[in-house]
Order: sequence, then C-alpha cells, then structure tokens
Amino acid sequence: EIEGGLRPRFLNDYIGQDKVKEKLKIFIEAAQHRKEALDHVLLYGPPGLGKTTLSNIIANEMNVNIRITSGPAIERPGDLAAILTNLSENDVLFIDEIHRINRTVEEILYPAMEDFALDIIIGKGPSARSIRLDLSKFTLIGATTRAGLLTSPLRDRFGVIAKLELYDIKELKEIVKRSAYILNVYIDDDGAAEIASRSRGTPRIANRLLKRVRDFAQVRGDGRITLDIAQDALALLEIDFLGLDSTDKKMIEVMINNFGGGPVGLDTLAASTGEERNTIEDVYEPYLLQIGFINRTPRGRVVMKKAYEHFNIPFKE
Ligand code: ADE
Repeated sequence: EIEGGLRPRFLNDYIGQDKVKEKLKIFIEAAQHRKEALDHVLLYGPPGLGKTTLSNIIANEMNVNIRITSGPAIERPGDLAAILTNLSENDVLFIDEIHRINRTVEEILYPAMEDFALDIIIGKGPSARSIRLDLSKFTLIGATTRAGLLTSPLRDRFGVIAKLELYDIKELKEIVKRSAYILNVYIDDDGAAEIASRSRGTPRIANRLLKRVRDFAQVRGDGRITLDIAQDALALLEIDFLGLDSTDKKMIEVMINNFGGGPVGLDTLAASTGEERNTIEDVYEPYLLQIGFINRTPRGRVVMKKAYEHFNIPFKE
C-alpha cells in the first residue's frame, strides 16, 4: 500500500470527481435497495487520480469484498477462472490496466460479465464439449488510462463508464490538508496551496510531495509546513512552479525549436522526444492541456503563449 492510510474509505471522504461521485452514489444506492450486484464499472483517466481508491470505496459502500488484480497479472484463462469461481455473491473484482489483458483471457470475461457464467471446454478433438458453470453475481470494475484502449466488445459490457478528470488546485489543496491531518503534521493554507499547485492535477503526486515537504520541515524547520518551508523543500526537490519535469520541458522545446510551435502530430512528437506515444498521451499531455500550455487541433498539437512565457522563450504572433 503506497499511499499508506491516506486513501479515503467512503464516497463522502473522497474529494473531487463530483460528477462521478454523484452518479456512483445513485447506482450504489439503487443496487443495494434491490440487493443486487452493482453493474460493471469502467473507470478511465490519467494515472494517479484514484481509480483504485474509488474501487475500494465502491466495495466498501456496497458492503462486499473486493479482489484486486491487473490485466498483465492474469496470464492464462485458468488464472481468471480461478479468481471468478472464488468470488462471493455481489463481490467486486477490480482489474487494473484492464486494456492489457490478453485475447484468450478477454474471451472468458464476456460470458462472465454478461451471464455470470464460465464456459469450460472438456476434452479434445471431435469429442470435445463445452460445459457451462454458473458464477456468483459480481461487479467487475475495470481501470484504464483511456477508454479507447479497450476493444469495443469489452467496453460495451460495462454498464457504467466514468471518466476521471485531473483535479483543480482547490481540490488538491483540500486533499493535501486532509492528508496532513491524517499524517499529524501542521500545514498552513499557503503551504497547502503551494504543494497543490505543483502536483500536476494528481492526488498521488500531491501526497508524495507532502511527505517529502514534511521531511524537510522536520529536519530544517520546526516540523510545521508553511509557504516558506514548502517553497524551499520543493526547490530542493527541483519541482518546477507548475510541477513540470524535464520531459514536459523537452516536449515543449522540441515543438517550438523543431516545429515552429506546431501543429505537431503525436507520432512525430514521440519520435523526436524519444517518449512512448502512449506515455505522452496518458501522462504528459493531459496536464499540459489543463494548464493551457498546449492545445489540440485537428492537425496536431500546438504550443500556446503561456508555455513560451513559462520557459522564457520569445513568442512571435
Ligand atoms: N487521496 C487520494 N485521492 C483522494 C481523493 N480524491 N480524496 C481524498 N483523499 C484522497
């Protein structure tokens, strides 16, 4: 458990993602009233936004057990069959990185999701036959960075599809304050705002920075996190004012220096920065879009004036 006790356990303690929470509250209450399993849920969005946390909360709110696994961990159909046959009525099965499950495993999922059944082939050749095994009703929660990474038959089997968005600074500030409270460390408003604004819209990053700033406050200060302490700690960590790292910087510089600020296609950008196309799309682009440093046009990505200003590069109209 990386986040160690900072993860909220109920929807009411979960900050942000208001639209997703509102929908889930209704679907959970309705399913509970009918004493049924919640419909299968697909959560998608950039890493670190709380997809695993939300899945734990859903199981908790539904009062059921959760079994956690990931796409790459399920190697063979038998692995998935073993998991499915061990679920109890209405349990949650969470599959992280569900876009990475292989074809043969995915085909086991279809009848499991749709009919709560497992089709098992017995024997080989002409005498082979298939028997159908009933499973307990369950809720599959799948997590992925982009819904488009799933095959459409898999995507179509989810009754609830929810997109998680990057958090705004106000929400991240609340998360930082809540986490500081749990970690039993004093933080003032400006200190929390400073950490929030350098966290790339991502609670996982906010909580990590908070822990490092706490270390700094303890050793260099009196243990309390103020604006000064936060700024000094974040400077030592070489976290830029907006939380940008060397890859963000390289991407912007390549777009400006090699492509006149764009438009640049994603594959071109991947080739000329040496980053994976998927990593650019899932990790770097969402935040650069959120802070208005780049824009997406039909012909590719373009760099906005704000980015030139941030990196001190002259902007030509
Ligand atoms: N910790 C990580 N994500 C959180 C969230 N969305 N709300 C509260 N605490 C969190």
